[in-house]
Amino acid sequence: MSGRIQDKTKLVTGSVLNLKNNEGVIALRPVEIKPNIYWVGAIDWDLRYFHGYLTPRGTTYNAYLIVDDKITLVDTVKNCFFDQMLERIKAIVDPAKIDYLVVNHVEMDHSGSVPDFTEAAPRARIVTSSKGKKGLERHYKKDWEYLTVNSGDDLSLGSRTLKFVQTPMVHWPDSMVSYIPEEKLLLPNDAFGQHIAGAGRFDDQLGWDIVCEEAAKYYANIVLPYGDQVKKALEIIGRLPIDMIGPSHGVIWRSYLPRLLEVYSRWADHETDEKALIVYDTMWGSTKEMAGALARGLEDAGVPVITRFLQTSHMSEIMTDVLTSRAVFVGSPTLNNNMLPTVAGFLTYLKGLRPQKRLGFAFGSYGWGGQGARQVQEVLQSMGWEIPGEMINLQYVPDGEELLAVREAGRKLGKTIKE
Ligand code: FEO
Repeated sequence: MSGRIQDKTKLVTGSVLNLKNNEGVIALRPVEIKPNIYWVGAIDWDLRYFHGYLTPRGTTYNAYLIVDDKITLVDTVKNCFFDQMLERIKAIVDPAKIDYLVVNHVEMDHSGSVPDFTEAAPRARIVTSSKGKKGLERHYKKDWEYLTVNSGDDLSLGSRTLKFVQTPMVHWPDSMVSYIPEEKLLLPNDAFGQHIAGAGRFDDQLGWDIVCEEAAKYYANIVLPYGDQVKKALEIIGRLPIDMIGPSHGVIWRSYLPRLLEVYSRWADHETDEKALIVYDTMWGSTKEMAGALARGLEDAGVPVITRFLQTSHMSEIMTDVLTSRAVFVGSPTLNNNMLPTVAGFLTYLKGLRPQKRLGFAFGSYGWGGQGARQVQEVLQSMGWEIPGEMINLQYVPDGEELLAVREAGRKLGKTIKE
């Protein structure tokens, strides 16, 4: 059976099928990533916003078709891309012949096509964790036939085996990864993902710098709260022979695996670089001047500084800087007895993502109440961060002497960062 299917695939993948669907004209080729294992996902060139996170490079929703005695689809795609996925599957097999659908994760960017898929593949049994089953039932209210699996369970597909490892909270409680030992292939869903749309399906087709930048942004904005769970997953994964990782977003890792696992281990441990990030907003320029004076003081101490103005940098971009910064300085003036709403929004996002082992420092200017910087400091303290010095809260417009004092405070804080 697999020989016939392989021949058919070569015919189809040898030419580009340009079909118009709701996303425009898109090449709908499947891509064989291992013998008789195909990427059959969807490319979302136009996505620019993913629940609070800017995605300037778009994304992909990756699904994988394993052709063996038991034909198996691992994950699906966001619902509006179902036709893309189905066309790719049809280029290889009749969907009605598919035996299993593995749902590694219930979030709708991966399970959104399950209802349509079950219509096209009526005999496919859904393989998922018990929490995955509950999640699918709550999302779709369908009476599907399930095979629930636990960590360590195997499912023989014929010449290949699917092994399952539950990885709760990477990214939801239902999350699990699928592993095919015969192919040294890990399909970990959200883990190791990046939001990149592109013509190439593999990491080396883009190069390390781009894929690492996007993997870091993805980790900082999606995975960061779950460092302990990532560490446990890395321990398990570290014991498995793996030469390819096919995440559910972005490129497939085949050339940069050691570097990827190394940076993931650092991020999961909340390891940072000896550098400072200054994030601020300003009303009439005083808090901006204070940010500049702090930056100069930090540089005097030999600490590299990144400065981010909340009117020009999106908080999801700033999170990528937080991922690797040892110290985070946050500045806000006071408006209506509060910090500025832009700063409050950033701090809410930051707190939810729970970066640890950072130094935090608050500063700002005020007219009379002075609550802005105080509220910033309260949030930084509530995150369990070390606060290495008194916040700086200056009335109205700082003069030259005050700015020199702010610079000196920056220099002292820089020394603390380097300790
Ligand atoms: Fe890509 Fe948690 O979904």
